[in-house]
Amino acid sequence: MTQIPTTDLITAQALEYQDQSAQAIMALALSQHQDIAISFSGAEDVVLIDIASQLGKPFRVFSLDTGRLHPETYQFIEQVRQHYKIDIEICFPESEAVQTFVQEKGLFSFFKDGHQECCGVRKVQPLRKKLSTLDAWITGQRKDQSPGTRNSIPVIQTDDGFSTPNKTLIKYNPLANWSSAEVWSYIRMMEIPYNKLHERGYISIGCEPCTRAVLPQQHEREGRWWWEEATHKECGLHAGNLK
Ligand code: ADX
Ligand code: SF4
Repeated sequence: MTQIPTTDLITAQALEYQDQSAQAIMALALSQHQDIAISFSGAEDVVLIDIASQLGKPFRVFSLDTGRLHPETYQFIEQVRQHYKIDIEICFPESEAVQTFVQEKGLFSFFKDGHQECCGVRKVQPLRKKLSTLDAWITGQRKDQSPGTRNSIPVIQTDDGFSTPNKTLIKYNPLANWSSAEVWSYIRMMEIPYNKLHERGYISIGCEPCTRAVLPQQHEREGRWWWEEATHKECGLHAGNLK
């Protein structure tokens, strides 16, 4: 039985691994937790899946289906499932919560009220439910992905947003120091699946109504919740990034 690392050990490991490879961070994550999973939705996460599959250790993958994803994203999830011959645990929002929310606020309330409430129902609640079954999770967050909120994320951290009094949840960000260019050269070199929306100017991809393509030299985050301030561009999955 693996021993769950203490908070002190995680702090020490964050320092020790800050300049190490994504492969080394992934190997550490998979070796020190039994109940751990990769959180998958985009290009970075397939790199994580590829790295984990090359390590030859068992690993789990989950994805949050908000009900508002692009058709291309569903095709991409299925392509990844078949390419790696893996199970992908799809997490859905509670149907009653969605029903009540949509009945009260309509289908596009986020353009007027901000995205937090809809993301809360469609992403954060299902994530909280999934994380309650895990000791740790692995994400594809990168520092340069969102200048307003992610520029200091460590490669390993305690997840203050989803820890409970009974459990300190650990979060691994093996690609924290990677640039977008490094992610894409890995994808092309390894010939691994990607979301076809990337061929049409999309970089950071979330739900269909809240994502748009960006122009050359526009920052990738500008394609997400473009009607809101850059410093608010976190949907709650990574709430700890908002200080
Ligand atoms: S978000 O918080 O703005 O939506 P972003 O799209 O940048 O997140 O992705 C950062 C990381 O969060 C991804 O690499 C992935 O690990 C996780 N993530 C984001 N969206 C989902 C999702 N729908 N399902 C599972 N994991 C997700
Ligand atoms: Fe709702 Fe948009 Fe958040 Fe998706 S990204 S859960 S559609 S507010």
